[in-house]
Amino acid sequence: MTSMTNLNTNGRYSPAGNMTGAAQRESLVTELRPVYEANATAPVKLQSRELDFFYGTQQVLYGINLDMRTRQVTALIGPSGSGKTTFLRTINRMNDVVPGARATGSLVVDDMEVIGSQIDVTLLRRRVGMVFQRANPFPKSIFENIAYAMRVHKYDRDEIRDRVETSLREAALWDEVKDKLKKSAFALSGGQQQRLCIARAIALRPEVLLMDEPASALDPISTGKIEDLIIELKKKYTIVIVTHNLQQAARISEYCAFFLEGRIQESGSSMQMFLRPAHKETEDFITGRFG
Ligand SMILES: Nc1ncnc2c1ncn2[C@@H]1O[C@H](COP(=O)(O)OP(=O)(O)O)[C@@H](O)[C@H]1O
Ligand SMILES: [Mg+2]
Repeated sequence: MTSMTNLNTNGRYSPAGNMTGAAQRESLVTELRPVYEANATAPVKLQSRELDFFYGTQQVLYGINLDMRTRQVTALIGPSGSGKTTFLRTINRMNDVVPGARATGSLVVDDMEVIGSQIDVTLLRRRVGMVFQRANPFPKSIFENIAYAMRVHKYDRDEIRDRVETSLREAALWDEVKDKLKKSAFALSGGQQQRLCIARAIALRPEVLLMDEPASALDPISTGKIEDLIIELKKKYTIVIVTHNLQQAARISEYCAFFLEGRIQESGSSMQMFLRPAHKETEDFITGRFG
């Protein structure tokens, strides 16, 4: 959702409110952390080739080519409706539940082809976890939210207990919940619920984490915690994140793909895209001149 602060004076979407293009660029450059410079030698974990996507007869993705590298954060940016969520959900076949939804082309996780009917979706979702825009804990205890999938997969009791703790620690939530694991997940704050959902997503030790605007419903402090967490998690996981917040993309991502009307207009290292975008459309978008 685009908040009022993201509308410029013409009432059009502007990633950083009413900042001028120059101010917007300057603020992005300040956020860029050279320490997270893209590692071009990291192996490609996810590779999309000539991926098209249709909702019924409406085509919404056109020839998507994108490499997403191991233990790097790839941020998907672009205006609302440009296809970011659709692309993200294609990676772990979340669009399967949409009647008439159809993808063609190729998308591989390592050498596992995701497009087509051959795929074992359960196995895919074990390898590729997902976190949504709104925290969506199960109506269960904090403990059971994380234990649930492990019970389904018949892990033994000790292992479940261990992994609940490690997952909560990895999600930077353990200290806040260790004394109330039996309490309902709904007793947690919004930010804590989102970290619980991240703990749940990593409980089965996936290789890839997909995140669709995971902090967009959160206050700035909770958002900061999620960003710090992402910076920790990328040491272990390959992360693909949709964000409408360009400062956030600059803070956490090594790579960036700019979606525009169902196509990737430009992709590359975040550093390069924010400092020296190759296309005018990208430049216009990141400097907030874009409706
Ligand atoms: N379930 C759906 N059924 C039909 N059209 C959809 C559905 N979800 C999204 N769309 C359309 O697909 C296009 C891309 O949407 P989306 O992937 O949500 O973009 P973004 O995440 O960049 O805002 C939009 O035109 C949107 O209206
Ligand atoms: Mg979206």
